[in-house]
Amino acid sequence: MSSLSQTPLINALQSVAARSHAAFYTPGHKRGQGAAKSLANLIGKTALQADLPELPDLDNLFAPQGVIQTAQALAANTFGAEQTWFLVNGSTCGIEAAILATCQPGDRLILPRNAHQSAIAALILSGAIPIFVEPEYDAEWGIAHSITPASVTEALTQHSDARAILMVSPTYYGVCGDVEAIAAIAHTHNIPLIVDEAHGAHFAFHPELPSAALASGADLVIQSTHKMLSALTQAAMMHVQGVRIVPARVAKALQLVQSTSPSYLLLASLDAARQQMATQGQELLSQTIELADRARMQLSQIPGLAVLSLDRAGTPGCVAIDRTRLTVDVTGLGLTGFEADEILHQQMGVTAELPSLRQLTFIFSIGNTSADVDCLLQGFDTLSKRFAQPSQARLNSPELPLPIPPAPLSPRDAFFAASDTILMTEAIDRICAELVCPYPPGIPVLLPGEQITAEAIHYLQQVVAMGGIITGCADETLQTISVVRSA
Ligand SMILES: Cc1ncc(COP(=O)(O)O)c(C=O)c1O
Repeated sequence: MSSLSQTPLINALQSVAARSHAAFYTPGHKRGQGAAKSLANLIGKTALQADLPELPDLDNLFAPQGVIQTAQALAANTFGAEQTWFLVNGSTCGIEAAILATCQPGDRLILPRNAHQSAIAALILSGAIPIFVEPEYDAEWGIAHSITPASVTEALTQHSDARAILMVSPTYYGVCGDVEAIAAIAHTHNIPLIVDEAHGAHFAFHPELPSAALASGADLVIQSTHKMLSALTQAAMMHVQGVRIVPARVAKALQLVQSTSPSYLLLASLDAARQQMATQGQELLSQTIELADRARMQLSQIPGLAVLSLDRAGTPGCVAIDRTRLTVDVTGLGLTGFEADEILHQQMGVTAELPSLRQLTFIFSIGNTSADVDCLLQGFDTLSKRFAQPSQARLNSPELPLPIPPAPLSPRDAFFAASDTILMTEAIDRICAELVCPYPPGIPVLLPGEQITAEAIHYLQQVVAMGGIITGCADETLQTISVVRSA
């Protein structure tokens, strides 16, 4: 049996869980014996017995020398990294640690304006100064793609002292940027490229999927193993290669952003998901691709629907598209994505990952079945028969994303400054103290430290009037906003 087909952490956990002993350690349910009945009924005795702390046979996540070290080494080997860390707080903690490990307070970090909110959290934690690069905007679909090599070069021309580049690839819509070219640019400047590959942990295991960020030369890559592979929710990995990242700094940063009591159920699920990919990845993903291809082809023939086509690969900010990700525009049905989502979810038993103003995005993974696809097709067929109108015009997108406003304060300074909540109508020229991100298109309009402009308020109000949603801020109705207190 090849070592990649072994599951050291699963085996160790299973054997410790099966050993009978008097438990005088955490967690308080003591291997399920004191668990509330309601929880035991929900998750079962076996899961509770394996919910164990860092016992001697189970190694230590923050100083691994035993089974965790072995399981992480197998993961590095499987994903093509030099070193891999298991994460128990999602890609969120990986992105935070990646930035903490590469940027000191005041250092500049180049990143896309539509980076995940964990990157904004990392700016606050680290004190790094963001150099935002606008992602390419696809006006026809009203969605933001990746950043381009040209825009990164431009940012580096203006900020040659930048300490690192972060990019998101793939996006939530499965759109991949040119990681290879951007890695080459970063390396010419002798700085690392960090890739938020939260949605791309499956890429390394099938030749028909876009190339994985590590294979394209990225230095530090963060993947939500729980999103696209079979690990439990929150279980993720971070991989490193090359000489531009100091692994000891990453390990130190990870201690800041993770629990000192990591769940062994999550850790073991990473070992299992890794082994599953190493032994059956291509075969399982072939089935997933086949299901997604069938859905894509048949949905595109249903009146009133448009499917984000793989042909868009090669347009700016989109070098490839993950064919296991399906985005369906429903405006030809005279419905918003939110309305279609509610009908599909409530009445047809079909639930999307990401509903938006004009479209719905569906994740296909190794867990989906042919029956799921039949259900999806049936649901959309019924919707189409009920709603499609012969000449239904597609909704206009909200207008193009706004230019990035001036930022008198860093995200960190704005976060720690005293703040007030005031009426949005009185907020012009004040400094924003929170993140304000409208969907669509998922590009923040305001971040902590940025000046609130009349243009920004008008834009946000338009998105709300069109039925879009605002995320990131305390008052998502936008009546009020949190601002830095005036001196
Ligand atoms: C692009 C992107 N990056 C990072 C994350 C954070 O991942 P996690 O949920 O594993 O913390 C997400 C979550 O949706 C995401 O979409």
